[in-house]
Amino acid sequence: RSHPVFLHHKHPDFTSLHELPDSYAWNTTSSPSPQPPSQRLQHDDVVPVVDLLDPNAPSSIAHACKSWGAFHVINHGIPNSLLRDIESAGSALFSLPPSHKLRAARPPDGVSGYGLARISSFFPKLMWSEGFTILGSPLHHFRQLWPHDYITYCDIVERYEAAMKKLAGKLMRLLLASLGISQADLQWAGPRGDFHGASAALQLNSYPACPDPDRAMGLAAHTDSTLLTILHQNNISGLQVLKEGTGWVTVEPLPGALVVNMGDLLHILSNGSYPSVLHRVMVNRTRQRFSVAYLYGPPGNVKISPHPKLVGPSRPALYRPVTWNEYLGTKAKHFNEALSWVQLCA
Ligand code: SIN
Ligand code: FE2
Repeated sequence: RSHPVFLHHKHPDFTSLHELPDSYAWNTTSSPSPQPPSQRLQHDDVVPVVDLLDPNAPSSIAHACKSWGAFHVINHGIPNSLLRDIESAGSALFSLPPSHKLRAARPPDGVSGYGLARISSFFPKLMWSEGFTILGSPLHHFRQLWPHDYITYCDIVERYEAAMKKLAGKLMRLLLASLGISQADLQWAGPRGDFHGASAALQLNSYPACPDPDRAMGLAAHTDSTLLTILHQNNISGLQVLKEGTGWVTVEPLPGALVVNMGDLLHILSNGSYPSVLHRVMVNRTRQRFSVAYLYGPPGNVKISPHPKLVGPSRPALYRPVTWNEYLGTKAKHFNEALSWVQLCA
């Protein structure tokens, strides 16, 4: 089900909307919710920070994954200049006039291109955000957007993806180590343990300033269908993760740090030890927020299943083996029924 507003009609020009249209109103009461999201938090609860240069990183990761499903990473090796470059590319893209952006619209049955959040079709209301998905080369779309400068932007994306792939491999080695699994125990990690065959997509997101943020939703609650997601957010908060026993906690931007989210496939691989994290994005009245998500998963033909080392007589395999694509298909089919999407693979 593709969304008519974006693909077939006029693009919602967020800057021209001074009131929240009903189609964007998630919270139907007109007064702000009794407790604005920011006040529902327990402020002493903050997403943990993992220092990748710390020899104890695997144990901090284990703790973060069990109690949060998300953590900040510092000393991750991604140059600040590259984070700035990808952020300006996103900013340049989203500030193009609406009709110009639509030259790179995601085709109805495609993945790559400009459009609504990809989970939009599962929800009755529209989200206050726009996105650009890159699977494979962005060349075709970037030529439509920037006929004279596309090489500059392609180059930034290429460098960003290469750096992220390296970091994701490092994170996988640490995550596996923290579960007691060596890379030699995972065939697709490859002979050098660099996860060379991994698949990935890049998702640029923009959350424009919103005239009625208490009733709007930037991105509805979901888990990522990845092994892990590495997220760069600009200095505007909005991302929240659901922490068991606490509720929604804002992942405050930490300059230079990246956010790592556990996805559904890692949930399956870890046989439920590292649950995928439910997260959402709130919007605000005055500032535009950007984020860049690197969505990381196994090679297309690899089935992910609970790792044999985490399965035994007292802990049977909780999920059946699935490829990334098979998982996406099952999740899409049952999106509205499932309490936890990974249960679909039980
Ligand atoms: C996402 O969940 O895909 C994006 C999160 C964010 O914008 O922070
Ligand atoms: Fe997400």
